[in-house]
Formats: sequence, C-alpha cells, structure tokens
Amino acid sequence: MKKVPVIMDCDPGNDDALALIMVHAAENIDLRAVTTVAGNLNRDITAKNGLEIAEYFNMKVPVSKGCYPIMKKFEALDISIMGAAGMGNAVLPQAKGSYSPLNSVELLHQEIRKAPGEIQILATAPLTNIALLLSVYPEVRDMIKGITMMGGAVEGGNHTPRTEFNIYTDAEAAKIVFQSGIPIRMIGIDVTYRTPVYEEELDELLACRNKTAKFIGDLMFYPGTKERPVPQEGLFIWDALAAAAVINPDIMTWRHHFVDVETRGEITYGETVVDVKNYLKKKPNTHVAYECNKQEFFQMIRYTIEKLG
Ligand code: RIB
Ligand code: CA
Repeated sequence: MKKVPVIMDCDPGNDDALALIMVHAAENIDLRAVTTVAGNLNRDITAKNGLEIAEYFNMKVPVSKGCYPIMKKFEALDISIMGAAGMGNAVLPQAKGSYSPLNSVELLHQEIRKAPGEIQILATAPLTNIALLLSVYPEVRDMIKGITMMGGAVEGGNHTPRTEFNIYTDAEAAKIVFQSGIPIRMIGIDVTYRTPVYEEELDELLACRNKTAKFIGDLMFYPGTKERPVPQEGLFIWDALAAAAVINPDIMTWRHHFVDVETRGEITYGETVVDVKNYLKKKPNTHVAYECNKQEFFQMIRYTIEKLG
C-alpha cells in the first residue's frame, strides 16, 4: 500500500498527543516529522511534550520547536483544561534525545522539499508555523498536497462565543493559510461536538489497560475522580478527529465551502466565516467536516492501542 507522508504540526496538548500516536500507529501513514508550536502551552512545553511522546513511542522522527504568534499577544490555554503540563495526568520519562537543529518552519520546509507534491500536513494547533512557512518560502505552497486541520467552526466557538481556540490564537496566520489555495480539510468544533466520547465508551476502549491504553486514559483524566469526573456530556477529543480524517478521509462527511477568517472584529476576531449559502459567490477553498463515523473512529483508537501495546 502507498503510505501517505504526513508532517504533524501540533501543540501537545493531550488531544494532540492522542492524534500523534494515532497517525504513528496507522499502517497507511508515513509520519515524517513532528513540528511543534506555541498554543495550548508555551512553545517550550509543547516542544518538550512532543519530544517525550515521540521518544516514548519510538517514533524515530525529527521533533522541532516552533513559533509564537507575530501579530497578536500569545495567550496559552487555561491550564485547568489540560493540566499544568498540558498532558492531563500523563507523565512521560524525560526525553534523552534532542530537538531537530531546525526550527519548525525550517523543518517543514526541508521535509516538504524532500517530497514535493506528496506531503499532507496534519495541523492540530494555531497555524503560526504554516503561515510563516508560506510567507518565508512562498514557493512551497504548490508543493504541499493538502492540509487537514483541527480548527474553526461553522457555528459558534469553544474559546469565545464565535471562535475556536486554534484560529483565535493566531487569526492572521489562519487567514494566510485559508487564502493560500492549498487544499484544506477543516475539522471544526461542530463535528467534534457531534462526536462526544462517553465514560462507558472509554471503559470499553481502554479496558485492556496496556501501556498505550493507560497513556490515553491518563491524557483524558480517565478514570474520573470525585474532584474531576468524566463529564456527563462526554469528552471532545478535537485533534484525534483530525488525525482520523487524515488516516481515512471517508470517516467524515464533507461539504465544500468558501471559508475566510475575521481578523479585525472586536469581538469576532478569529471567527472562521463559512459561506454555507455561497452568498459571496467565491470559489470554495475548504472541505468542511460535518459528521464523523464514530464506530470507525473508535476502531482507529482500538487499532492504535493494539499496535503500540
Ligand atoms: O479548539 C481545540 C483545539 O485547541 C485543539 O487543537 C486543542 O489541542 C487546543 O489546542
Ligand atoms: Ca492542539
């Protein structure tokens, strides 16, 4: 089978961590590099988490440190959401290896030039690295096969009333990416909210309690405790759905829309404006995910647990 070469640009982050091990395990994915960026936490912590995950699961890929937003003051996520180190209850051994000598923009550039026209970028973080890449090396735009991103929303927000966190953190970067002409698959909060993972589903998924099952449970603060029960409404594992979409795009239903990003709104800064009714008569630039086949998603998690042991 021809494997899909993937670079994962991420800000681990507990859901990034699950997404990363899913693509690492997937038999049809050839993970080429992990480029990290400031997002859930500052760029040093997201890089540290990325390197520790890559080493713990023996990924043998370069891991790089990334950037902070340029046009907007960086604001990390509230640490109560993912825990102080951003990895839930998971604590991994300190990495023995080192980061790539290249920063994330340079590593993206290097790996894309090695496989022009083939690389699918799985972006599960603010799009700062990718926007900088396109600004510093505009010629790579036509060398990127596609970008599958977790970010944005057709309706609503998960960080402000109208914005999703990854886009809000660096809306100018997101605008550059959406306007780049690169084929984009957008997994927004809409499809994530429609794919909650309930406690009893975790009970079944993580029953084997091997190293990987335990790691995933720790990431998700599972099993719950009195202080922090698994929410009744279920868990929303944002980035894992984007990983599922890069492993098998048919897991989602898609609609093709024109999408742009608000960068001047006082209270709508970072909103992804999805032209569902084609009012603007602009050529659609984004495939937006609407529904996810939850059983297929769970099967990918089971496969990851079995494969990585
Ligand atoms: O809005 C969800 C996104 O914000 C995910 O990528 C999660 O990791 C956080 O960064
Ligand atoms: Ca993320």
